[in-house]
Amino acid sequence: MSESALYLDNAATSFPKPRAVYDAMVRYGTEVGASPGRGQYRASREGASIIRRCRERLATLLNAEDPGHIVFTLNTTDALNLAIKGVWRQWRLTRPGSPARIVTTAMDHNSVLRPLDALGAEGLEVVVVPADPVSGLVNPAAVARAIDGRTALVAVNMASNVGGTIQPVAEIALCCQAAGVPILVDAAQALGHLTVDVRVIGADFVAFPGHKGLLGPQGTGGLYVRPASASLLATTREGGTGSWSESRSQPESMPERFEAGSHNTVGIAGLGEAVQWVLDRGVGALRAHELSLIRLMLEGLRAGGCRHPGWEADGAGPLCGFRLLGPAEAERRVGVFGLVHDVLSPPEVAAGLESGFGVLARAGLTCAPLAHETFGSAAGGGACRLSIGPFVTEPDIERALTAIGKVGLSASGFARKTGHAVA
Ligand SMILES: Cc1ncc(COP(=O)(O)O)c(C=O)c1O
Repeated sequence: MSESALYLDNAATSFPKPRAVYDAMVRYGTEVGASPGRGQYRASREGASIIRRCRERLATLLNAEDPGHIVFTLNTTDALNLAIKGVWRQWRLTRPGSPARIVTTAMDHNSVLRPLDALGAEGLEVVVVPADPVSGLVNPAAVARAIDGRTALVAVNMASNVGGTIQPVAEIALCCQAAGVPILVDAAQALGHLTVDVRVIGADFVAFPGHKGLLGPQGTGGLYVRPASASLLATTREGGTGSWSESRSQPESMPERFEAGSHNTVGIAGLGEAVQWVLDRGVGALRAHELSLIRLMLEGLRAGGCRHPGWEADGAGPLCGFRLLGPAEAERRVGVFGLVHDVLSPPEVAAGLESGFGVLARAGLTCAPLAHETFGSAAGGGACRLSIGPFVTEPDIERALTAIGKVGLSASGFARKTGHAVA
């Protein structure tokens, strides 16, 4: 990536990462190298300690009861697949022949929707709870209404990768508890940005990436499994764990039960340093920085004439061709901004931002087609999404706003053709 580029695709994966992350990965690759814990020699033991420390740091960050209940995965998608398919498999093993339903929401990502769709072919009933078309908020009462005696799981997104909407997951979890149904929280856009306290939320399972808000490397992620809920999860993959090798059955002990095969130890070495960086700064301070940038962005968009149903628009300003998706209030969102232009397609906006201004943004449906249907942006091909991270600064936001305005104005030729009024 060129040094002059302004990377605003942190919702896909964060960049840059703290220096210590890269250093730990290089050190593991060049100086340790061994398969962790599988051998008795020092390097193997060191690998095992690196994995244990990373697990402990993640448990601290999540306020988890037991580090052993943090399962390493490849990414959020892998963790969501483990939780969804593990619950489905266990349901079928323990209640053969009885129908099952999984409830999710229109704000959920394809990493939830596609595993559910695949299980639909095996007889699972999937219920999608709609969200508010402006804010993207899901009403906990609507989730409660969707739960019935056949419900095996509720899977909800904590923060949207389209509108940035922060969902009331603790309230939704209360509805689930009242009905005796486990809840899986997709914290892909939340961890590292918001406080995710598994005990305050009351989550049974939390799927998270290592490579987004936690600032770890790609190829890392995890699933928190509440100790009391571990029995609801069957394994979806079995294999060697370096322990209980005399047994042909997968061990019952955590986390080995769900961690068959060699770890991504180089990645976990980097992730351990990343989580320590987040713990040292404090999620509260990171959120405060993000909030100040969100406010600046929202104020700039509004002042530039960008439209939102919660804002009065006079149709003037360089941003008047744009519409912002998601809540109007900074406190109700994470640093993800989905923008739709009246004339330019999302890829045209993203291409204009990169070629003219070095601003790197993502365009399209961003794997959340139902969220775009909710916001009315699906038919136009989604949105151009800009997403911030902890290394983004106020001048970066000013630069992005200027670039968005200029790209929007460059559409005036198109706009005249289509009769659209551009100030
Ligand atoms: C809400 C949400 N869930 C799941 C995912 C999948 O994350 P991963 O790339 O870690 O598999 C993403 C990725 O952008 C996301 O935004």
